[in-house]
Amino acid sequence: MKLRQLGLLASAFCAAVLATSPAFAAGKPLQVATDAAYAPFESQNEKKEIVGFDVDVLTAVAKKAGIEVKFINTPWEGIFAALGTGDRDIVASAVTITDERKQTMDFTEPYFEAKQLIAIGPKSKLAKFTDLKDKKVGVQTGTTGDEVVQKLLGKTNPNIKRFESTPLALKELQNGGVDAVVADNGVIINFVANNKSDKLKTIDDPTFAKEYYGFALKKGNKALVEKLNKGIAAIKADGTYDKIYKKYFGN
Ligand code: ARG
Repeated sequence: MKLRQLGLLASAFCAAVLATSPAFAAGKPLQVATDAAYAPFESQNEKKEIVGFDVDVLTAVAKKAGIEVKFINTPWEGIFAALGTGDRDIVASAVTITDERKQTMDFTEPYFEAKQLIAIGPKSKLAKFTDLKDKKVGVQTGTTGDEVVQKLLGKTNPNIKRFESTPLALKELQNGGVDAVVADNGVIINFVANNKSDKLKTIDDPTFAKEYYGFALKKGNKALVEKLNKGIAAIKADGTYDKIYKKYFGN
């Protein structure tokens, strides 16, 4: 084999290796995991494009940071594992920053404040979180809603009905299969507003703590966390964040 051919072969081999490791492939956009069944934060439009608040925020942040991002619909279950394996570089999925998660992944600065909210049927007499103690409660598996409900009902209580997405849990509430759903406020408010004829009600319980969404990264990826944090600060400073916020949540 001629030297030139050998060189070509070697560079093709390198390109193939690099292409399989997203974080290192030069010029390749960062792979962003998002569970796109979570409007208004992330969902798929008619064209199957991933759209939403998180998409707009991270896209604006990335632009400031000079990096390219590509959103990939990724089921919530296993979404964080995809960081560990290197299949994804960032999780942008309305992820609440928790102490427990911080042990296995890194987070950017918070970009959104949220809280749990309870959804109930139109005729329900339930009035506060503790009323759910002996009720069937729907949650999305492994979310902070799941954690909160576990604390009241007990981790293995069969009355906790776990779903792979929050819309599925809310559909079960529409069908009367559960008495309540506990999930992030923004998503429940959006669902109730888009399903007016069901007349679902909500309970804002004062015992629920404030939660903060951050973008999650593989542990130890300091350089990227810093870049994204600078981007977040920049879009907050120049009004871009406020514009995006207004687009999705009004004033
Ligand atoms: N904020 C909650 C959590 O971090 C729920 C997030 C679910 N996000 C989603 N796209 N399904 O546990």
